[in-house]
Amino acid sequence: MSQDNLVLAVDQGSGSTKALLVSSSGAVVASASVPVASTYPRPGWVEQSPAEILDSVRGVVARIMQGHDPSAVVAVGFSTQRESLLLWDRRTGHPISPLISWQDQRSAGQCQVLAEAGHADLVRSRSGLPLDPMFSATKATWLLDAYDPDRSNSRAGRLCLGTVDSWLISRFGAQHLIEVGNASRTQLLDIHTGKWDEDLLTLFGVPAQVLGEVVASTGPFPTARGLDPLRADTPITAVLGDSHAALFAHAGWNPGTVKATYGTGSSVMGLCPPGATVSPGLCLTIAWDTGAGPNLAMEGNIRSSGATLNWLSRLFGQSPAALAALADTATSDGVHIVPAFNGLGAPYWDRDAVGLLSGLTLGTELPQIARAALESVAFQVEDVVAAIDRSGVPVSLLLADGGASGNPVLMQLQADTSGRLVARAADADLSSLGAAHLAGRQVGLWSTDDLQRLPRKRQTFVPSVSADERESRQRGWSTAVLRSRPPVLR
Ligand SMILES: Nc1ncnc2c1ncn2[C@@H]1O[C@H](COP(=O)(O)OP(=O)(O)OP(=O)(O)O)[C@@H](O)[C@H]1O
Ligand SMILES: [Mg+2]
Repeated sequence: MSQDNLVLAVDQGSGSTKALLVSSSGAVVASASVPVASTYPRPGWVEQSPAEILDSVRGVVARIMQGHDPSAVVAVGFSTQRESLLLWDRRTGHPISPLISWQDQRSAGQCQVLAEAGHADLVRSRSGLPLDPMFSATKATWLLDAYDPDRSNSRAGRLCLGTVDSWLISRFGAQHLIEVGNASRTQLLDIHTGKWDEDLLTLFGVPAQVLGEVVASTGPFPTARGLDPLRADTPITAVLGDSHAALFAHAGWNPGTVKATYGTGSSVMGLCPPGATVSPGLCLTIAWDTGAGPNLAMEGNIRSSGATLNWLSRLFGQSPAALAALADTATSDGVHIVPAFNGLGAPYWDRDAVGLLSGLTLGTELPQIARAALESVAFQVEDVVAAIDRSGVPVSLLLADGGASGNPVLMQLQADTSGRLVARAADADLSSLGAAHLAGRQVGLWSTDDLQRLPRKRQTFVPSVSADERESRQRGWSTAVLRSRPPVLR
């Protein structure tokens, strides 16, 4: 193929939709971003607009293609936020519900009921995931109870339930599909077979007819019809979950490579060695299927990382970057934030944990609180990395990406908190880059060896505190986490 060939990748994230144009040499030749709003209609509820998400994708594609020849785009890849769920009308294609965000906690009560009825083990063994409202299954129950209580429209095939990848693909190609890695985050899939699980569908009250057809990460997908100014026959050749795409871009194609993505939330992930005993604090997930069957990954999800800074920024009227600058020179002086806004995710999976600000004195000022917010990100990531270590994947080097990884103070904090080398990717948005790599590979623009050889510019952060200091900080964090969790559940 000629030098002019380009791959377009779109990363639909919680806070924004981003796009990259990648040349055949693997260089990023353009990037663009469009913000996406969230609403919080009730405590614990987080929603987004499906129409706004679709518009943001169209908008970012139109923007990034300015000055580039649409016919040079030989493949399109998508990476998407995961677990968020909506319903749409199969005939008209119009959304029937809002997109219920992965951050939404409205189905926490249902998870509790299912756990008390003894279903947690079945759910975990089939789906790889703990019972938690972050995953799509209980959101599906909620949506169907609200919009199709007797499930008649679902059974008659009039409704489509789908994740963000499923929604976008349906708009471009009028087909109801879901990529297998995204499907594995719904908690309705048997991750060992890559198929919808009858028992889970029954347990969560989801008729099979309302779900899309599960396809590999390389499709087949429809072409990018309606994504102006792309030609209608431009192939979509890769779809990945955002966290999965970042692992792909790090070349994490074998067990042993572990990465942390620092976005609205964080995901720490690495492929699972055969026969590993995965710590109960972690999930098992399908990273991708590039045509040779599902690749399983172990993963820990942190619900609030960048979101903690966003929350502080709303409270204090300062941008996340300004807060990060305040945190740069401050010490936390015993202040801790445990950002259990929606309970705690990995490795605690405690729906009843409450958000906590502790260690306040009359001398506490915003810089200490901002510092504690950054530290909470590093502590939470280390809690998960330690669980990966315990699962038989020793982590001496942690690869980092995502919007918040652009903050060198956070990266140094991570190295100091973890006592491990941290290597941050020069390209922050590895989610779209991973989708570009897989999409380009699929059309023969690159081989796996070509991708392996791509220069991956990284900045390495070396731990700079003593083991004693690290342990003392860790004790302070562990005490704060204990305080955030109701005693009966400890
Ligand atoms: N200087 C900074 N220091 C720390 N965090 C920052 C900084 N600047 C931005 N952030 C955080 O980075 C996050 C945005 O990162 P990113 O764009 O990767 O998220 P996203 O893709 O929208 O979310 P997700 O991938 O979790 O769905 C925001 O939550 C923001 O608060
Ligand atoms: Mg992201």
